[in-house]
Amino acid sequence: MCGIIGYLGPKAVIPILVDGLKKLEYRGYDSAGIAVVDESRIHLKRVKGKICDLEKHLGSDTLDGYCGVGHTRWATHGRPSEENAHPHQDCTGSLVVVHNGIIENYLSLKKKLIKEGHTFRTETDTEVIAHLIEKYYQGSLEKAVQQAARDLEGAFAIAVISLQEPEKIVAAKNGPPAVIGLGGGEYFVSSDLNPLLSHTQEIVFLEDGEMAVIESRGVKFCDFKGKPLEKKVDHITWSPLMVEKRGFKHFMLKEIFEQPQVVRDTLKGRVSLDSGRVFLDEIGISAAALKRINRVVIIACGTSYHAGLVGKYLMESLARIPVDVEYASEYRYRDFILDKDALVMVISQSGETADSLAALRAAKKNKPLTLALCNVVKSSITRESDGVLYTHAGPEIGVAATKTFSAQLAALALFALHLALVKGCLDEKRSLSLIEDLQRIPHRMENILNQAKHIEDLALKFLTFSHFLYLGRGINFPVALEGALKLKEISYIHAEGYPGGEMKHGPIALIDEKMPTMAVVPRDNVYEKMLSNISEIKTRVGYILAVAFEDDKEIQDKVDTVLAIPSTHPLFTPFLTTLPLQLFAYYIAAKRGADVDQPRNLAKSVTVE
Ligand code: AGP
Repeated sequence: MCGIIGYLGPKAVIPILVDGLKKLEYRGYDSAGIAVVDESRIHLKRVKGKICDLEKHLGSDTLDGYCGVGHTRWATHGRPSEENAHPHQDCTGSLVVVHNGIIENYLSLKKKLIKEGHTFRTETDTEVIAHLIEKYYQGSLEKAVQQAARDLEGAFAIAVISLQEPEKIVAAKNGPPAVIGLGGGEYFVSSDLNPLLSHTQEIVFLEDGEMAVIESRGVKFCDFKGKPLEKKVDHITWSPLMVEKRGFKHFMLKEIFEQPQVVRDTLKGRVSLDSGRVFLDEIGISAAALKRINRVVIIACGTSYHAGLVGKYLMESLARIPVDVEYASEYRYRDFILDKDALVMVISQSGETADSLAALRAAKKNKPLTLALCNVVKSSITRESDGVLYTHAGPEIGVAATKTFSAQLAALALFALHLALVKGCLDEKRSLSLIEDLQRIPHRMENILNQAKHIEDLALKFLTFSHFLYLGRGINFPVALEGALKLKEISYIHAEGYPGGEMKHGPIALIDEKMPTMAVVPRDNVYEKMLSNISEIKTRVGYILAVAFEDDKEIQDKVDTVLAIPSTHPLFTPFLTTLPLQLFAYYIAAKRGADVDQPRNLAKSVTVE
């Protein structure tokens, strides 16, 4: 997704904008640009390519100014090119805008503006915004942005600067996120927190229909009709260090290794190792309200959807409540059945995924209870839900989700225990035993991470394969899906996850020496069934790797290679079976020279449809 950044303050603008864009790179992009305004003109620099290309293009440009904006573009309307890169300008070049989102009615607006004499330079929807503001400008930049915003249909988070008012940035939000950073005599606007953390932790989150007018004397807030707004300032606890690589080659590898701590942090303070109780009052939904629900609908995308599938097994097993797990992109358009006795849980690490936000809004029409399970404080999905259960994974920079998946599993385990205790399906004695098992997970994860070198060496054998099959059953079927997603999204090797029982219904036709299988086979109630899948594959000359318990001697001579994990409670095996699959995908992708942290065509947060 696109990223916007803006700075107004006493420091040199360009280094701050470039550093900010680097902190937005993880969102995925294909071009970038910046604009700086001084008393004489607006200086514009744009490139098709990466931030390092922009830095070369800037060279030793000492151009400075009062304020500036920057942008990383993930092309939607108009191919990746220098002229389509943001910032975009009006006819005279005295006003520029950077934009994240999609303007649905840009063609009709563009036709009208051309009739009114505006000349366009690009194929983008964003350029229409610059000409609209130009059309309405009569001495007040914020008033012109307000009028333009009222004409726009679709999603936009924008920042605007102008030559007429060189010490002002106007930001407006409708859909994609926009946050305002309040420093000491300096101010920022950004698509997310990462570029701001090294400058300030005092943040204002704009809501839909809101604007910020940033000037050297301070920031004012208003709506699109110009009505002044009082906005709360949040103190963000994430530290700048959290968004650094800290000696790892890629953010993804660092985040894989952060998972034991992330699970500890997500559990911390929410369980009692004396009584077996779970403390989730913070979610903002009472025990009495939870007691009344008769079904749970989990809605999510991608890796979060896979976490939701694990959540289904946890809640149905512990809380004895029916759980449906839905792709947000499907659910939002379906004529679904939902009533007020349901709990709708939207799982989203970013809290900004457009399909998940839209599905939440569609579900809310039926007045169910809504709960966000999210990793980003005050993100859109959290703000539109009745309750919020936060994961404590810290910022995840790698586009491929890893530590946020483990954090989601921890939060889902907590919620399932809490729901079971509230509904009386679980006594505190059994809960205590499960909590003790849960508390041992981080240490067991560390044991697996200690074998990373073995997995790295194994990965070398699979660099040239073009296809992979991942199999799992029960609570590890979602892990098979997640393992396949990891491999395909960062190494570009085609991989499919399947429930083991489905092999006979088609996939077994695929098996030959060119189609290796990764089987997830902890000792649980479907272990024997997985062994029969494995023997069916072996008789067809398929290469098999298995993720299995380290003390499982039976499986050693049934497969070609074992990725060993410590044993644990059957309900918690996904915490452990996922790690070797993440490492396997990472090392294959890294050895293939893929852009692991920013895979092609992908964005960290899909904030547009
Ligand atoms: C997973 O590795 C991908 N980054 C992607 O599938 C992601 O899980 C999906 O886009 C959902 O994102 P969210 O959790 O922020 O809603």
